[in-house]
Amino acid sequence: MCGIVGYIGTQNSVPFLINGLKRLEYRGYDSAGIVVCQEHRLAVQKSVGKIAELEAKLTHSNMDGKCGIGHTRWATHGEPTENNAHPHLDGHGKIALVHNGIIENYVSLRKELVSKGHTFKSETDSEILVHLFQEYMQNGTDFIEAIRRGLSTVKGTYGIAVICSAHPGLILAARRGSPLVVGHGNGENYVASDAAPLVGYTKEVTYLDDGEIALVTADNVTVKTIDDQVIKKAIMSIEADLTAIEKSGYDHFMLKEIMEQPQTLRDTMRGRLLLEEGTTKLGGIEHDLESLLYSRRIVLTACGTSWHAALLGEYMFEELVGIPVEVEYASEFRYRNPILSSDSTVIALSQSGETADTLAAIREAKRKSSKVFGICNVVGSSIARETDAGVYLHAGPEIGVASTKAFTSQVTVLALVTLLLGRMRSISSSAGRQIAQALQAIPDQVEKVLEKRDQIQVLAQELADVRNFLYLGRGYNFPVALEGALKLKEISYIHAEGYPAAEMKHGPIALIDENMPVIVIATRDSVYEKILSNIQEVRARKGKVIAIATEGDKEIADRVHKVIYVPETMEMLNPLVTIIPLQLLAYYIAVLRGCNVDQPRNLAKSVTVE
Ligand code: AGP
Repeated sequence: MCGIVGYIGTQNSVPFLINGLKRLEYRGYDSAGIVVCQEHRLAVQKSVGKIAELEAKLTHSNMDGKCGIGHTRWATHGEPTENNAHPHLDGHGKIALVHNGIIENYVSLRKELVSKGHTFKSETDSEILVHLFQEYMQNGTDFIEAIRRGLSTVKGTYGIAVICSAHPGLILAARRGSPLVVGHGNGENYVASDAAPLVGYTKEVTYLDDGEIALVTADNVTVKTIDDQVIKKAIMSIEADLTAIEKSGYDHFMLKEIMEQPQTLRDTMRGRLLLEEGTTKLGGIEHDLESLLYSRRIVLTACGTSWHAALLGEYMFEELVGIPVEVEYASEFRYRNPILSSDSTVIALSQSGETADTLAAIREAKRKSSKVFGICNVVGSSIARETDAGVYLHAGPEIGVASTKAFTSQVTVLALVTLLLGRMRSISSSAGRQIAQALQAIPDQVEKVLEKRDQIQVLAQELADVRNFLYLGRGYNFPVALEGALKLKEISYIHAEGYPAAEMKHGPIALIDENMPVIVIATRDSVYEKILSNIQEVRARKGKVIAIATEGDKEIADRVHKVIYVPETMEMLNPLVTIIPLQLLAYYIAVLRGCNVDQPRNLAKSVTVE
């Protein structure tokens, strides 16, 4: 939700700002803008639409400043217009601000500021911040102090970067609830919402925590609390290289990320599978294993695709670890009264590690004295830092808004945790070895499914104009049905529903006619016979069944319109192979419909607002 960048140093900041915004575009892409300190005044350029449009406007300007900040927006308050685009300036055009987050008390603050003579140009909540800073500075307070005071007045969340024409050698960055990272360069320093804009410029970063303010000059970074206490912050190293954040010849990041899965799954398992012992080694949770193992109850919480992975975690944990598990939408968690105590464990799953609802669920769980674990992809993200222990996915940057490789890595991590805990409870060493070997085979099996992309592309041509889809699965393939349907709707704007196959007869069966494609995930497993019956029920209503079936299952081919085969694996690992054709199908359908696959309308990669 909105991306922020900042540069201060010896070079013109504009190229870094534009490049950085392009790398953050997945966070928001309805309007963008930059501002630089140029000859003791602030020069601003904004544009509605993609960063490319802002860049085009800049070719006719001579913007050049060694200190600048920029923003790419995902609208919350006010439509995507130039006036609502960031940066926002104070009434005198001397202070400029970019903001990610939501200022909750902006209505009352705005009224108060209007009564004091301030005029607002936008409908955004963000603009009040810069007027607040102006108000304090007008009363003689210095720039830094004015920002501290302003931030103490607001309720809500922010990640901000602020510059002032009177202080052309300083960027001020502050965070509460929205991520910010400071990059350390040589005679130049950077600010960004996440590490992506910094790749290729520096490897050294400092992640800001809530309530912290960074004073960033070309040669120095000082981090303070909002109460003005200097804090010694760790400098961390970022590992990603440029290929990880570029399309590398693919048309879209989504396709690149789908195709990367054999490798990302190997990376997720690297050094963690102990084949001989039939178990796993997960350094991030090994010191807290007892609390997990002796939990009376485990709650898995997440949003969207991560929630679908969590559902698979429930199935695995209950089957093989024997601990009662519940899966909670993080967005609902804190608005009811979940029963938690010190003997329950909450595991939060999040690709970005920044999802506001998931963070809020973690905080609620901590308030109720539960131990909180995280399963995240983004190293150093807020969720990774706020949880007691956790496991990283190591799937590399996921840039396409539709999550693909993070999902398979999440499911893999959940399988690794299941194996670890299961072996400490009731799974025998031979059963453990069998699971470990099946896991090790998964990347090659995923590779085999990816080889079928041409077949799936042809199927996409047949289905691209359909308006509704149904996805059905049972057991471990039910969450896959949900995930397959989500992929299709978010990138192709086709209505799709995922259902447990047997639930179909309690309602959705009414939708089935000869125009309704029904994707049925029907691998050979413990519920195979049952799902064959469900296929019959669909066919009896003339529904067009497309089956995802196990390699070698010739029988199913006679019963359905089309089959896509996937290699055989253990039942609990089936989702890792059955989701692949559904990701590809959604991708090719969206491309055929001319949709913006990597940046679907109305969506943003990480949802850092409630
Ligand atoms: C997935 O394709 C979605 N774009 C979305 O549902 C996403 O999974 C959700 O917002 C959670 O994100 P997170 O994993 O970064 O927390």
